Amino acid sequence: MKKLVSILLVTVLVALAISGCAGQGSTGANNAGGKVTIGCAIYKFDDTFMTGVRNAITQNAEGKAQVDVVDSQNSQPTQNDKVDLFITKKVKGLAINPVDRAAAGVIIDKAKKANIPVVFFNREPLADDMKKWDKVYYVGAKAEESGTIEGQMIVDYWKAHPEMDKNKDGVLQYVMLKGEPGHQDAELRTKFSIKAVEDAGIKVQKLAEDTAMWDRVKGQEKMAAFLASQGDKIEAVFANNDDMALGAIEALKAAGYFKDKKFMPVVGVDATAPALKALEDGTLLGTVLNDAKNQGKATFNISYILAQGQTPSKANAGYDIVDGKYVWVPYKKITKENMNDAK
Ligand code: GAL
Ligand code: CA
Repeated sequence: MKKLVSILLVTVLVALAISGCAGQGSTGANNAGGKVTIGCAIYKFDDTFMTGVRNAITQNAEGKAQVDVVDSQNSQPTQNDKVDLFITKKVKGLAINPVDRAAAGVIIDKAKKANIPVVFFNREPLADDMKKWDKVYYVGAKAEESGTIEGQMIVDYWKAHPEMDKNKDGVLQYVMLKGEPGHQDAELRTKFSIKAVEDAGIKVQKLAEDTAMWDRVKGQEKMAAFLASQGDKIEAVFANNDDMALGAIEALKAAGYFKDKKFMPVVGVDATAPALKALEDGTLLGTVLNDAKNQGKATFNISYILAQGQTPSKANAGYDIVDGKYVWVPYKKITKENMNDAK
């Protein structure tokens, strides 16, 4: 009997903890129907990959917390205003995808002053900013890993297809479509994709590089410009993400590629649904799974735990927490052969 009573007691306590009532006291003017409120800002809604992360956050919050998601419209001042509003509303946690990762420091100062824990995601704050407070976390992926995988896919293709060296000079002539300058994923994917090719003993020559800001239409425009200036000299296209790779494929199609045996190896990152379609069609050579589902889930789990006044750990969050603040979600190579892994 005594055992039964204690089991019941534990169950009630656990239920209270899960619903967010325990430990929060009655100060939560923000509680919507007894649930904790988390303020979430996305750098801009109009971004294919971030839409996947955003959807994963909302799905994981269902039945647990109230997550208010706002669009920062690619403007840091707009995002700062939204954060101020969240603080005024006394949200219990913040989940922030910064517009400018260098601006994270200011957000941390504000959050710390109001004692609201903050989880950054996708755009990594500078290490010094991350050290400002112990209730600051980051969920993301190791950008260099995705660059290395992109490079290795080109190496594999080069080795299997000697005709890829169109001018037979033993050097890989390439063009690079970069994401937003200064973004860790843009800088490191650019660097490590080429490093992987060089590490495989292949000489490279960069014909052109330009930023297309993660954007499909811009990717198409920049690729059309590369084709106009470099023409048939181009032997491979590296893009920092799939949207730009898909834009490049459009420009290549317009220039007569992907028919009559005219091929161009194009690689990207993210493994978005349209990119998987292009893999299937045989236009995109390869991509790298940037795991929106797990990044969104980890971001929600950690913010939710913090919002309840608890400390995230592998046991309660379901993800390894490195150096007490970082969750690294792994990347994965995706080609036509294993594309089901990304679906
Ligand atoms: C990257 C992703 C890009 C873009 C960017 C936004 O991780 O590969 O497609 O979404 O994040 O910060
Ligand atoms: Ca060549």
